[in-house]
Amino acid sequence: MKISVIGVGYLGATHAICMASLGHEVIAVDVDPQKVALLNTGVVPFYEPGLTQLLGTANAQSNLTFTTDYSDASNCDIHFLCIGTPQTENELHADLTALENAFESVIKIAKPGSLIVGKSTVPVGTAQRLATNLAERKPGVLLNWNPEFLREGHAIADTLQPNRIVIGANTENGAEALANFYKLVSPEAPIFITNFPTAELVKVAANAFLATKISFINAMSEVADATGADVTLLADAIGADDRIGRKFLGSGIGFGGGCLPKDIRAFLARADELGLAESLNFLKEFDLINQRARTRAVALALKELGNPKGKKIAVLGAAFKPDSDDVRDSPALEIAETLHALGASVVVHDPRALESAAAKIPELTYSDSIEETLTQADLTMHLTEWGEYRALDPALVKKLVKVPTIFDGRNVLDVAKWQNAGWKLLALGRAL
Ligand SMILES: NC(=O)c1ccc[n+]([C@@H]2O[C@H](COP(=O)([O-])OP(=O)(O)OC[C@H]3O[C@@H](n4cnc5c(N)ncnc54)[C@H](O)[C@@H]3O)[C@@H](O)[C@H]2O)c1
Repeated sequence: MKISVIGVGYLGATHAICMASLGHEVIAVDVDPQKVALLNTGVVPFYEPGLTQLLGTANAQSNLTFTTDYSDASNCDIHFLCIGTPQTENELHADLTALENAFESVIKIAKPGSLIVGKSTVPVGTAQRLATNLAERKPGVLLNWNPEFLREGHAIADTLQPNRIVIGANTENGAEALANFYKLVSPEAPIFITNFPTAELVKVAANAFLATKISFINAMSEVADATGADVTLLADAIGADDRIGRKFLGSGIGFGGGCLPKDIRAFLARADELGLAESLNFLKEFDLINQRARTRAVALALKELGNPKGKKIAVLGAAFKPDSDDVRDSPALEIAETLHALGASVVVHDPRALESAAAKIPELTYSDSIEETLTQADLTMHLTEWGEYRALDPALVKKLVKVPTIFDGRNVLDVAKWQNAGWKLLALGRAL
């Protein structure tokens, strides 16, 4: 099938490359000429495990074209919209400007009988509004809303073997063509066909639930700090109940990234517009708990260091999560930036995100060497859960630092191993 993918960021590039690898002819359109040029030379402009290799395969190379020219996509049967919907500056709601511009451009080139598929995360009510516009302007072209659940770091597997497909449509048989398309991508994936608002809500409700679990355990971490309880053992014990489950009960410095924080804020803003502010008020609290986890980490560092001026802090991790170079709303980077602003001499290491971090916060010092980062450090802060940090030999790295004290912002380091090697461990929600 000939398809287009509009917007080749984290979601769109992955979708385009994966669909081309399955044999579809893919025209991938983006307004960013640099991104398009890089992708056309086989370079993925961000880090996602396996994606560059998949782009280099014969199938992807022969089936995939990246372009800035929408008219190259005029002959496509399906147009997948993968446009960013970031938080509006200084407000809670989602900025749909780029999505609406892209939608306008697609309307102009879509051939009769083709299908436009929105994959971006949008406030409930958006799809129906766009569908009404489309019906007036290009009758015969259909719209589906097909929210995306891929996780950065697992994006290829999540695209080729998704755990579910959700298709929102506003006519009875309007989802059939897309359902058939996805049956060929992943015959095992359950397909949920819904109306537009349900499809839009599945995405934001899922993210709200995940954010709730993380913030819930971080609220327990605050209580643990005040009472002497251990939040990780608490999470193990409540998570052993399969009605609760242990996943997403990882306490620490909280969630970040380009999705969860802005999605719960956009959900709050939309609920407010709908007169439902009270229904989602709990999300406001969970957003605050999440922000507080960052300030608690800074406070713990200051308590340990005293006056931070001139003290060296080695920060392990800049990305918002491991196996990604995404630093959007990254807790690690925000903590590093705050400590730098307070006068500490902060050096940040990350296996993949140094370039994106330096582009975002240029005033920090970055190093691609763990040794250099740790050398003569007065405090080490483990802030992103990369495997290489967990694999560090505490006895070896102790020889590099000035003071063997490490803050485990993710509560994943082997406490006994680090303590036995002579390190002092600091954490949120547990007295070690
Ligand atoms: N990143 C994820 O893991 C993920 C997962 C699920 C859902 N989503 C959702 O998917 C959407 C895209 O997210 P992302 O992380 O890929 O964003 P992104 O910012 O990485 O990518 C968006 C791309 O759209 C391009 N673009 C902007 N205006 C355009 C236009 N008029 N025409 C063509 N291209 C245009 C930008 O240049 C950019 O390359 C968002 O709604 C997000 O919430 C993202």
